[in-house]
Amino acid sequence: NKGKYEHYMQKEIHEQPESVTTTMRGRLIRGGSCKAKTVLLGGLKDHLKTIRRSRRIVFVGCGTSYNAALAARSIVEELSGIPVTMEIASDLLDRQGPIYREDTAVFVSQSGETADTLLALEYALENGALCVGITNTVGSAIARHTHCGVHINAGCEIGVASTKAYTSQIVVMAMLALAIGGDTLSNQARREAIIDGLFDLPRKVKEVLKLDEEMKDLAKLLIAEQSLLVFGRGYNYATALEGALKVKEVALMHSEGILAGEMKHGPLALVDENLPIVVIATRDSCFSKQQSVIQQLHARKGRLIVMCTQGDAASVSVGGTSRVIEVPQVADCLQPVINVVPLQLLAYHLTVLRGYNVDQPRNLAKSVTTQ
Ligand code: UD1
Ligand code: F6R
Repeated sequence: NKGKYEHYMQKEIHEQPESVTTTMRGRLIRGGSCKAKTVLLGGLKDHLKTIRRSRRIVFVGCGTSYNAALAARSIVEELSGIPVTMEIASDLLDRQGPIYREDTAVFVSQSGETADTLLALEYALENGALCVGITNTVGSAIARHTHCGVHINAGCEIGVASTKAYTSQIVVMAMLALAIGGDTLSNQARREAIIDGLFDLPRKVKEVLKLDEEMKDLAKLLIAEQSLLVFGRGYNYATALEGALKVKEVALMHSEGILAGEMKHGPLALVDENLPIVVIATRDSCFSKQQSVIQQLHARKGRLIVMCTQGDAASVSVGGTSRVIEVPQVADCLQPVINVVPLQLLAYHLTVLRGYNVDQPRNLAKSVTTQ
C-alpha cells in the first residue's frame, strides 16, 4: 500500500524518520545519572568477545549494501581498533580471496537472498571465519546461515532501488561499532556523542526531507543531462557512490561517485562548464580539503552543486556559478544517513521527470538470486 504516495520509492524515502526509529528501538539505552549510555544488540551479545578478538573484520555485500558498509567502515575501525577490509561479494569469489579463522566476516544484505553474498558467506564458513549477518529479512538465507547477526527492522522495502534499508544498515553498523568498541574512559565522550546523535537522527532525517521541493527543482535543471558526477571523501565517499548508483539505476542517467582525493589523478580532465558535479562538503575533519576541491573545480569552470552543513553556504560558494544544498548536521559518522537523502530525492524526481519507471527500473530485479 502506497498510501498518499505515488511510488514505493517515494514512500520509502519519506518513511526514513520512522524506519531508522524502528531500527534503533530497544537497542539504545539512555542510562541514568551514573550509568553510561549504551547499545544492546541482542543478536550479537554472546559473540562480542569473539568479534573483539578477531584480527580483521571483513565487510561483504553488493550494490547499496556494500555502500552502506563502506559508510560505516571508518567508525568501526575507530571504535574497535580492528582493521576493516571491504569486499564486493562477487569479487571475493572471483579472487577466492583469503579468509581466515581469525576473521569476522560481516554479510550485509537487505533481502538476505542475494546469490553472490550468499555464496561468499558459504565460502567464509568453509574457511572458518565467524560469520555475522546484517539483513532486513527475518528467515532469509543469509539470516539462517550466519552464526549470528542483526535484523535492521526497516520494514518491507518494495521499490527496487534501496533507500530506507541503506540508512538503517548504516545505523546498525554504527551501533555495531559501539557494541564492539570497549567502553574505555578515553573514548567515553566520543561514544556518548554518537549515541546522542543516534537519538537525534529521526528528527534530523525529517528535517532533511524538507528539501524535497528543492531537489525537484534541481532535477528539472538536470533533466536533459547525459551525466552527473558526485565527489565525496571520508565518511561521505560512500554517499557519493550511493547517490550515483541511485541516479544511474532509476533515472537511467550515467553517474559516477568519485573519491575527491583522486580528483587530480584523472577525473579532473572531465571538468568543463557543462558537466554537472555534486560536491559533498559537510562539516567534518575533511571539510577544508573539500573546500580546496571546490576551488579547484571552480577554477576549471565546473558546474557545481555543493552539499554543505546548514549555515555554511557562504564558506562553500564560489562566485555565482554554484548551487548549494544545506543539510542539518549530526555526529560526523552518522552524517552519511542525512546526506544521502537529498540524493535519493534527486534520483526520484529525475526519474519521474524523465518518464521512467521508478519502482521497477528496466533490467533490474529486487532480489538478485542468480550469479
Ligand atoms: C529479538 C527478536 C525481536 C524481539 C527482541 C526482544 C526476532 C527475529 N527478533 O530481536 O522480535 O523484540 O529479540 O528481545 O525474533 N541473526 C542471524 N543472522 C542475521 C540476523 C540475525 O543469525 O543476519 C540472529 C541473531 O543472532 C539473533 C536472532 O537472529 O539470534 C534475532 O536477531 P535480531 O532480530 O537482530 O535480535 P534482537 O534485536 O535481539
Ligand atoms: C540498489 C540495489 C542493489 C542492491 C544489491 C544488493 O538500489 O537495490 O544494488 O543493493 O542488489 O541487494 P541486497 O541488499 O538485497 O543483498
